[in-house]
Amino acid sequence: MDHVVWDETMSVGVAVLDGEHQHLLKLFNGLLESGITPSNREELSGLLASLNDYVAVHFAREEGLMAGGSYPNLEEHIAAHRYFAAEVAKLCEEFDGDDTTMLRMDLILLLKDWFVEHIQQTDALYKPYIKNA
Ligand SMILES: [Fe+2]
Repeated sequence: MDHVVWDETMSVGVAVLDGEHQHLLKLFNGLLESGITPSNREELSGLLASLNDYVAVHFAREEGLMAGGSYPNLEEHIAAHRYFAAEVAKLCEEFDGDDTTMLRMDLILLLKDWFVEHIQQTDALYKPYIKNA
């Protein structure tokens, strides 16, 4: 089972950010569900582009809220976001539809080893600084 389903352990206590995290998980799951075969190259490219775009929107909002709440570890958190955004952008650029096994593995690693861990461990740290809007 490659899917990750959002649950309360991932809540950062801010409705809009929880909603965006849920949407990002949905985009990841959609990509993994799409079969990832060379024949659906265009669909995959579109899904990857959506993920890339939404990651940028979400990180910008999260960073704005952290800055507004005077979160002390902002720089470190932004650096983590830059790393992830670059990894997603790299996936988009390098995906050529031929080596779909690699795409699948890279996606699972990004989803489970980075994104879910980031929500549960790194995002959790800003909870006391951002009020639910
Ligand atoms: Fe974050």
